Amino acid sequence: MFHLECIGCHEKFGGEKVIYVCERCGDLLDVKYDYLELESKLRSKEWEKQPLSVWKYKDFLPILDLSKVVSLGEGGTRLYECSRLGRRLGVKKLYVKNEGDNPTGSFKDRGMTVGVTKALEYGRKAVLCASTGNTSASLAAYAAKAGLRCVVVVPSKKIARGKLVQAVAYGAQLIPVKGGFDDALKIVLKLSQARKDLYLLNSINPYRIEGQKTLAYEIADGLRGRPPDKVFIPVGNAGNISALWKGFKEYRRLNLIDSLPQTIGIQAVGAAPIAEAVKSGSETVKPKSHPETVATAIRIGSPVSWKKALQAIWESRGTAETVTDGEIMEAQRMLASQEGLFVEPASASTIAGLKKLVEEGVVGRDEEVVCIATGHGLKDPDTPLKFSEKAEEVEAEVEAVEKAIGVLR
Ligand SMILES: Cc1ncc(COP(=O)(O)O)c(C=O)c1O
Repeated sequence: MFHLECIGCHEKFGGEKVIYVCERCGDLLDVKYDYLELESKLRSKEWEKQPLSVWKYKDFLPILDLSKVVSLGEGGTRLYECSRLGRRLGVKKLYVKNEGDNPTGSFKDRGMTVGVTKALEYGRKAVLCASTGNTSASLAAYAAKAGLRCVVVVPSKKIARGKLVQAVAYGAQLIPVKGGFDDALKIVLKLSQARKDLYLLNSINPYRIEGQKTLAYEIADGLRGRPPDKVFIPVGNAGNISALWKGFKEYRRLNLIDSLPQTIGIQAVGAAPIAEAVKSGSETVKPKSHPETVATAIRIGSPVSWKKALQAIWESRGTAETVTDGEIMEAQRMLASQEGLFVEPASASTIAGLKKLVEEGVVGRDEEVVCIATGHGLKDPDTPLKFSEKAEEVEAEVEAVEKAIGVLR
């Protein structure tokens, strides 16, 4: 059994009706379980033999009717050991969890498989989100699979083309607004209160976080029950860092691991309200009105889950760091050229953050680190092309191409 609980006033709610925030004080909600019951369910050990996937962890998820599950085969993403890049950056062991392996190419699919299943359980006919791109791509795909209508509200500028084309192809109704993600989110939050036919699937929806927490379970299981010392994760609206920490804490509570990793949130310099709060030791986050970065997925000034993110960082004795756009693009090139992993700029921010924190001595050279690559590089083909040298055109002749190759060193 499960219930919803407010993270502020701790008021409890059953899951019978749709609510997104606490009806008493307006704070964020968490899904809580009867952990004794869960422990006894897990005792059979059968579940442990299943291959990694979101639904391997069905007993940890708040689904009442498993016949309604909407799945495209999400989770089970690869955890790459990146020894060459690890050596170059100066850490003992570096792994990259490649969430680009998910069906629509980002971690959002973990949340949407659970969230869209809840939409069906609640009998909703349409789903809604605001998005910097990946949320809309993912929601559109799962809505298509479920036979639901899908409305996505996106910034009219600076949305990566790879993400936009996905939402369109999956048949979502795309509504571009003259503003950024923060404006779009405000609109859908209001709409979801007024329109009971629409089910909101931004990460304020606590059920979406439940799907995303399986990322932590998979890291722990992928490393045979030994979590790393530190996990680096990009932070935008702050849902994923909250989900990651919830997952690790639950695994610890159920004695499936015996230590917890430190959670390190990475933000771009121009969109860093959480990193700024962490650095100044503040208990609240000051929204930033004009966030700016090439990593459009994390171009967010007013993160809705800031409270859960700060909790994840403080409780885990982690930290947050900022990286410049130049550092992000350099990290994207490094990961691709050293390890054959092409990730989108927001994902590469974790590698840039790791480099910086090793140089500053915050990450020890004997530590094991996992960086979360949240989305596939092909999501945003334009940004790396803009940052790289344009190849010069030559005549279509062997001599001309050979001359262009030059002497290989
Ligand atoms: C690729 C990618 N990385 C990171 C993030 C940030 O995740 P969150 O908003 O949960 O902090 C997003 C969100 O859109 C994303 O698409």
